[in-house]
Amino acid sequence: MERLYFEIPGPDRKDDAVDYIREFYEYGSDINGAGGLHRYLDDYGGWLKKLEADYNRVPDEERVPARTYFLVRESDGRIVGMINIRLALNEKLRRYGGHIGYSIRPTERGKGYNKINLYLGLKICEKYGIDSVFMDADLDNPASWKTMEALGGVRIRQYFDDEFAHCTVFDYEIDVREALSEHKEYEKYVARQPE
Ligand SMILES: CC(C)(COP(=O)(O)OP(=O)(O)OC[C@H]1O[C@@H](n2cnc3c(N)ncnc32)[C@H](O)[C@@H]1OP(=O)(O)O)[C@@H](O)C(=O)NCCC(=O)NCCS
Repeated sequence: MERLYFEIPGPDRKDDAVDYIREFYEYGSDINGAGGLHRYLDDYGGWLKKLEADYNRVPDEERVPARTYFLVRESDGRIVGMINIRLALNEKLRRYGGHIGYSIRPTERGKGYNKINLYLGLKICEKYGIDSVFMDADLDNPASWKTMEALGGVRIRQYFDDEFAHCTVFDYEIDVREALSEHKEYEKYVARQPE
């Protein structure tokens, strides 16, 4: 499998970022973990400013501080995925959404990339002192909950959510230190970001 790394979104990725979102519309896919990029397709600079504001936010019931990254393939520099990591949870996120939202672009799915996306995401969580990650996934999104299980996620609850998802939802908890120490097999797919 290919090697991947996280990249902080910067001005030179405008066309690649728009192309990433375009693909979701083309394939009629849900967009997750993109830090709201799909709402800024005509204002990429505005989105970069929003990310900056997201970094420094004081948590409240509306917004929490978050980090957004592109998941990039080392061999060709292509953005293959994105992730949005919430550094704090408010009441709403505690009920639905949790610490992490992620996506892999439709044409790059099923290659194991999201497992590396979450593995790298957990490393960020560790860096910010998050010991236990809370995540959820809809029953009909096995690619998402299998990703969590591949990183040692434990299903702690299963319920019908008639407020946000309107379907059966699985809640997961991931012990960050344990996940990273017990899944070192993913380390060989991690690349260093080029200078
Ligand atoms: C969820 C998503 C990120 C998965 O990305 P991916 O790169 O295809 O996932 P991976 O290839 O790393 O596979 C992860 C696991 O899911 C399994 N999987 C992948 N696609 C699957 C599918 N269509 N059906 C069932 N299982 C699937 C894989 O086999 C793997 O499990 P395993 O380790 O037990 O074999 C991607 O489908 C996506 O972007 N969906 C839209 C956004 C979304 O739903 N995000 C999640 C909500 S925040």
